[in-house]
Amino acid sequence: MVGLGPKRKPSRRGSMADVPHDIKQEIKRLEELFTVDTAKLKGITEHFISELAKGLSKEGGSIPMNPTWCMGFPTGHETGTFLALDMGGTNLRVCEIRLPEEVGEFDIIQSKYHMPEELKTGTADELWGYIADCLQQFIEYHHEGERLDKLPLGFTFSYPATQEYIDHGILQRWTKGFDIDGVEGKDVVPPFQAAVAERNIPIRLTALINDTTGTLIASSYTDSEMKIGCIFGTGCNAAYMEECGQIPKLEHMKLDPKQPIAINCEWGAFDNEHQVLPRTQYDIIIDKDSPRPGQQSFEKMIAGLYLGELFRLVLVDLNENPNVKIFHGQDIAALKKPYSLDASFLSDIENDPYENLQETYDRFKTHLKIECARPELELIRRLCELIGTRAARLSACGVAAICKKKGYETAHVGADGSVFNKYPHFKQRGAAALAEILDWTVGRDGKPLGRGHDPVEILPAEDGSGVGAALIAALTLKRVQEGSYAGIRDPQAMLKGTKAEKPGSKEVGGK
Ligand code: BGC
Repeated sequence: MVGLGPKRKPSRRGSMADVPHDIKQEIKRLEELFTVDTAKLKGITEHFISELAKGLSKEGGSIPMNPTWCMGFPTGHETGTFLALDMGGTNLRVCEIRLPEEVGEFDIIQSKYHMPEELKTGTADELWGYIADCLQQFIEYHHEGERLDKLPLGFTFSYPATQEYIDHGILQRWTKGFDIDGVEGKDVVPPFQAAVAERNIPIRLTALINDTTGTLIASSYTDSEMKIGCIFGTGCNAAYMEECGQIPKLEHMKLDPKQPIAINCEWGAFDNEHQVLPRTQYDIIIDKDSPRPGQQSFEKMIAGLYLGELFRLVLVDLNENPNVKIFHGQDIAALKKPYSLDASFLSDIENDPYENLQETYDRFKTHLKIECARPELELIRRLCELIGTRAARLSACGVAAICKKKGYETAHVGADGSVFNKYPHFKQRGAAALAEILDWTVGRDGKPLGRGHDPVEILPAEDGSGVGAALIAALTLKRVQEGSYAGIRDPQAMLKGTKAEKPGSKEVGGK
């Protein structure tokens, strides 16, 4: 048992003094493998910019750059009552959101339902049935005995989907470990609506949205400088507002070239061709063993789903390496189980405040039945820092690429997701990388960096899949009422049975 040491001071110099040569060598090798220097960050960003443009072109590229038919930002004056459904990786959330007359305000009630792990690899019927059951429970609980008009629903479906209309979405491919047969390549809305109709649930799907678009719109509701919405969570992605005139693949629709439209980049697919990302042997294994090899190359290096697995793969490799042999003579069966460690395991290690890494020692002992020697603990801690830092730095390339493409010298970026919110130092590491890529010497206020605000700031976002989904539904209904039909399949059907059907109604979508 390691004795409880003093809480760690910010500088850890000297902590490596007692680390044997072979482990020191190994740490050095890992540092070389996982460090992405400024020049590389800049190279990745340049390639990213051209790939964003390629995704908007008629020929298309790896990054899907999906037009979402969310046409512009909210004004803050949106009103009405909406439902929002968020099909996340771990939870299913149902919300009812009221946008009152007061500018930028909202009231929300919500319920969370656990998404059983088996559902992710089960059948499509089970998935839609489960989601509809949760919606039904929510309505029955909150509106027992009431006669309801059809409530407009914003459905946050956070997977790549091609949208010809705002209430339509052909799943391009499952991501984030989902693997349900018979859904890819098809519109997800009809089976969802059928499950809803079967249960007589009084809702009308108004908008199918991505979590990044929701984040962008929700954040811009209260912050007019908001330009990009990002998710750094189980998966990773961004959305921003583009002018229709900059989207060659929409040319045939003859839309107003100045009309803004939110683009769901689906940047997780960046560099699927493996041209610039510094993939390690461990990244290659993650890809090969995933349900969709060759897909989501960028995401697999940064998203929360993969950080724990990367860490695990390195440790198993070092245990098998005769020159290092960490955890020598111990049973590492628990560590050998794929996807047994999630990103919070790494967060906890990076957060261990003790000089002797007592919490890390305890975590390995209880969770993995491994007793780590002090040098092993040092290696473990450094490995977490390296994996977490690489993720933050690579993420910054995507943000920098959108800013450069759009010529934004200053911007607010709204970010959400477990990695952004909970992973230690992710924000600071990302901000430092942005400064390196964009060559900042002074901040927003003209003062040297570190004293003021950065020109591009990544800030915690408003609730995209709740408030954002409601706002997009509100904006869509308002547009339909005003006769603006881009991305609207059937304007009359969209209003049918909702309060917005009545002309001049103030309750839903209009003012
Ligand atoms: C999905 C995106 C989503 C992101 C964050 C990715 O795996 O493809 O649609 O925005 O995860 O949730």
